[in-house]
Amino acid sequence: MTTEPRKRILTGVRPTGSLHLGHYVGALENWIRLQREYECFFLIADYQVSDHADDISQVKGNVLEVATDWLSVGLDPEGSHFQIESLVPQHAELTTWLSWWVPMGMLQRNPTLKAEMGNLADGESVPVAFFNYPMMQAANILMPRAHLVPVGEDQLPHIELTREIARRFNRIFNVDLFPEPEALIGRVPRLVGIDGNAKMSKSLGNTINLKDDAATVTSKVRSMYTDPTRLRATDPGHVEGNPVFMYHDAFNPDVDEVNDLKERYVLGKVGDVEVKTKLAAALNTFLDPIREKRAYYEAHPREVIDALAAGTEHTRTVAAETMRQVRDAMGLNYLS
Ligand code: TRP
Repeated sequence: MTTEPRKRILTGVRPTGSLHLGHYVGALENWIRLQREYECFFLIADYQVSDHADDISQVKGNVLEVATDWLSVGLDPEGSHFQIESLVPQHAELTTWLSWWVPMGMLQRNPTLKAEMGNLADGESVPVAFFNYPMMQAANILMPRAHLVPVGEDQLPHIELTREIARRFNRIFNVDLFPEPEALIGRVPRLVGIDGNAKMSKSLGNTINLKDDAATVTSKVRSMYTDPTRLRATDPGHVEGNPVFMYHDAFNPDVDEVNDLKERYVLGKVGDVEVKTKLAAALNTFLDPIREKRAYYEAHPREVIDALAAGTEHTRTVAAETMRQVRDAMGLNYLS
């Protein structure tokens, strides 16, 4: 038995609604796998509500959706800490200090940020919060002095920024306060959407959600984009780059079945209907236990709130200690 304290994970999502299969294979699966080995802080980043700034009242429902999804996939609030960002205001406090050591150019070059700003409607001005949120993400990660950040691939520039800020802070104040956190990308870094678009994303409307019922999944799979060059079941098809086979690879544990379908597909010896029916079955088998747990938490909403309350409470204690050390390092203990 080791008595070493566990290393820490901080990771999270913005509360934009239901989580989907892309979240699962891109990140969640790692969180579930690592939650005993690491002390985990799972964050719902409600300060970073870019999609809902015009309708903040939606955020509450989304926060509860995310927490319910987390419990349904098996994140364990007994061993980990679920937290709501805005109820740990030290995140905002640390962001304010850290922003002195982040050159504007570093944010302007951030490819994820650039892509998000590119999605703004023509002529729409860029809210200051766009520049703030990557710094706040750095504050989120540094707050519990996390070592590891399991995330989707699109988050890598933000982790790189966090490492840079940690190095700068430690160097400027000659301390060893913040570990340089490592990113960890999931088994499928970027899952394609059901429409064949490069990324499954709520804003693109091409998701299969963890809470979708079996009939919804089956009908979404039936409508999935496949090989556009294949007009008849007897035409030889392409497996490479075909979303239906990418999902088979990601979610169908029956490798023999998948290989058999692939072989027949390239020979023009299997119809889309069979390939899709088998995919829908595999996805529904995968989702069934998640749905079952979700039904439990939907019937016991108090347990969801309790998980959020307990984790947030604990995180506040950890955050207060980090901020004490930050002020100490900066020589700002005015009243002592
Ligand atoms: N930016 C992340 C996303 O869009 C959410 C997030 C906020 C996050 N703070 C974080 C992820 C800290 C990892 C670590 O999904």
